[in-house]
Amino acid sequence: MSKKTFYVTTPIYYPSGRLHIGHTYTTVAADAIARYKRFTGHDVRFLTGTDEHGEKIQKTADEKGMAPIDYLDDIVGDIKKLWQTMEISYDDFIRTTEKRHEKAVQNIFQKLYDQGDIYLGEYEGWYCVPCESLWTDTQVGDDHKCPDCKRDVQKKKESSYFFKLSKYQQRLVDYYNANPDFCFPESRKNEMLNNFINAGLEDLSVSRTTFDWGIKVPFDEKHVIYVWIDALCNYITALGYEGEDSSLMDRYWPSNVQIVGKEIVRFHTIIWPALLMALDLPLPEKVYGHGWILFSEDKMSKSKGNIVYPEPIIERYGIDSLKYFLLREFTFGQDGNYTNRNFLTRINSDLANDLGNLLSRTISMIEKYNDCIIPSPKTSGGFHDELKSIAESMSAKVDSAMDRLQFNEALEEVWKLIRRSNKYVDETMPWALAKDESKKDELDTVLYNLAESLRIATVMISPILHITADKIFNQLGVSEDIRTYESSKAFGLIKEGTKINKGEILFPRLDIDKELGVMEEMFGKKKEEVNELPKEEIKEEKKGKEEITIDDFAKVELKVGKVLEAEKHPKADKLLVFKIKLKDEVRQIVSGIAKFYDPAELIGRNVVVVTNLKPVKLRGIESQGMILSAATEDDSKLVLISAQDIEDGVEVR
Ligand code: MSP
Repeated sequence: MSKKTFYVTTPIYYPSGRLHIGHTYTTVAADAIARYKRFTGHDVRFLTGTDEHGEKIQKTADEKGMAPIDYLDDIVGDIKKLWQTMEISYDDFIRTTEKRHEKAVQNIFQKLYDQGDIYLGEYEGWYCVPCESLWTDTQVGDDHKCPDCKRDVQKKKESSYFFKLSKYQQRLVDYYNANPDFCFPESRKNEMLNNFINAGLEDLSVSRTTFDWGIKVPFDEKHVIYVWIDALCNYITALGYEGEDSSLMDRYWPSNVQIVGKEIVRFHTIIWPALLMALDLPLPEKVYGHGWILFSEDKMSKSKGNIVYPEPIIERYGIDSLKYFLLREFTFGQDGNYTNRNFLTRINSDLANDLGNLLSRTISMIEKYNDCIIPSPKTSGGFHDELKSIAESMSAKVDSAMDRLQFNEALEEVWKLIRRSNKYVDETMPWALAKDESKKDELDTVLYNLAESLRIATVMISPILHITADKIFNQLGVSEDIRTYESSKAFGLIKEGTKINKGEILFPRLDIDKELGVMEEMFGKKKEEVNELPKEEIKEEKKGKEEITIDDFAKVELKVGKVLEAEKHPKADKLLVFKIKLKDEVRQIVSGIAKFYDPAELIGRNVVVVTNLKPVKLRGIESQGMILSAATEDDSKLVLISAQDIEDGVEVR
C-alpha cells in the first residue's frame, strides 16, 4: 500500500536581513510537524524558501551598491546556513528568482489573463514600501498610515493589471462554510470572514510599473507581477506546476497544512484560495496562522531594536533547547512573550531537572545495582502498573495534539510520563531495595520499568528533539527497531540483558543569574515584563451598568471550556493560571479566584469563558480570556459558572 502523503509549507522568507527567533518559530514548527508525519509513516514534502522580488529588495541592494541578485545570494546563503545549523529537514528550498519559479509564474499570469481573470485597468491607492501592500483610502485613514506597520504610506497612481478577486467572494464564503477547518485558529477565520470577505472584496492590483525587480508580465514587459502573487505561487511552482515535470504536483497537491504568521493570514486565506479557484486547483486543507513572539509586548523587529537571534542561543544552549522552548513555552496560534528568564527557567526545569535527571538516575542505578545491564521485570501491580498504563496511553494523546499542531500539549503529555517516572523513583526507593537481598526482584522491576518508560518518552520526543533522543537511545543501548513510532505503544520491548552506555549529562543545570548576564551580553539588556493590570480593572464593576442592546451583547463571545491545568500564579497569591481547552484550541487564562478554590479540584471541570476579550497581562502572565463566576458583594463567597455536561468549545448564548 502506498504511503499517505503530507505536504507542509512555511512562508517564503524576505531576505532583507538576518533572521531572528520569531522567524525561526514558523520553521521550527513546520519542521516538527514534517518530522512527526515522517515518523508516523507518511510520505512527506516540506517546503521553505525565500521571497526575493519587490521594491524593498531593490532599494536595499541599491543602497549597498550591489546588484540585487548578488545581494540576495549572500543573504539567502546565510538563511540556508541557519536552517542547516538548526537541522531543519526541508525537502525543497525555493527561491523566487529561480527560473523554474519565474517561468511558471509567467505561465500562470498568462493563463489567468487569457481566461479573463486578469484585465488591464488603472490603480490609485496608497502604497506601503516596507510591507509591499497597497491600501485604499479607508484603510489608511486620515493620517495615511499603513494599517499593518503604522508607517507612512505614499499615494500611487499607475496603470495596472487587476485580478478579479471580487468574482470569488461568494465562492470563498461557501468554501469557508463547507470547510470550517480551512483557516485556523477559529479567531482568525472569523476575522477573515467578518472583516474582509463579508465586508466586500475589490479586484486586486497585480502588477507594477514603478520598479522592475520582479517577474515581468509576459505580454507587457513594462509591468512586473505584484510580489504577493509571485510569492504565493511558490507553493505550487515548487511542485512543478506550469513547469516541465508536474509529477510532484500530482503527488502532493493539495497541501495539508500551510503554516504562516498571523499578519499574513489574509494573503493566504483570501488571495491564495481565490487564485487557486481561478486556476481550477484544489485548496489547501488548512492554513494555520500562528501568533507572534513578542518582546516586551512588541513584535520582534529590527526597527524596534529588540531582536533575539538564534545562533548565539544554539551555540551556548544547543539546538534542542531552543526548539523545545519555542514549541513548549507558547501556545501555537497565540502570541507569546519572550524573556531570557523564561527561556532559562524552562530549560532548567523541563530539560535539566525532569528529563536529564530521569536519564542520569536511571543510568546510574542500572550501572550501580546491575552492572550496566538492564534486568527483566519480575513483579507487577501498584506503582509499576500505574507507570506502565501512563506510558502505554501516552502516544495516542501526543498524536491527537500533534494533529491539531498543539506542540505544547504534545510535549506536556510526554512530560507527564517523565515526571511520573521521577516520582516512581521516589515512591519505589531503589536505593533501599538494593540494601535488601530479598528485594532483588522488586529492584529489577523498577530498573526495567524506568528504562522502558524513558525509552517510550524518548520515542515520542524523537521527531521534535532528535539530537537529544539519539543521545538517550544510545545511553540506554536500545536497538533501532524499538525507536520507532509503532514501538511507542507497547510497554516491555527492551530486551533483558541490554547493556547501557553511560554518557555525558544531557542538559547541565544552569545558574540562572549567571546565564542572564551571559544573555544580556549576547543581545543587550532588555526590559523584563512588569506589566500589570491596574487594580481597578481586576475588580469587578459594582455599580449598575448602562442598558445595552442585544447587538451589544452579541459582541461577547462565550464558550464552554474544559480546565486542563490550573496552578497558582508564581507572583500573585490571589491569582490562578489556567490552561483551558476550547475544542481545538488551548487558552491560558489568569483568574482572581485563588482564595476560593484549590487549583487541583478544578482540573477537568467545564466552565464558561469569554473568548473574544482582548488579552491582558496579569502580573506578567498573559490572560487570553475570562472565566465567568458569581461572587457576593463582599467577596466572601464565589462560585464558578459551570457547564458540566456540555462539550468544550460549544458557544454559550
Ligand atoms: N515573504 C513573506 C511571506 C510570503 S509567503 C508566500 C513574509 N516573510 S517574512 O520573512 O517577513 O516572515 C516569514 C515568517 O516569519 C512569517 O510567518 C512571519 O509571521 C514570521 N515571523 C516574523 N517575525 C515574527 C515574530 N516576532 N514572531 C513569530 N513569527 C514572526 O512574510
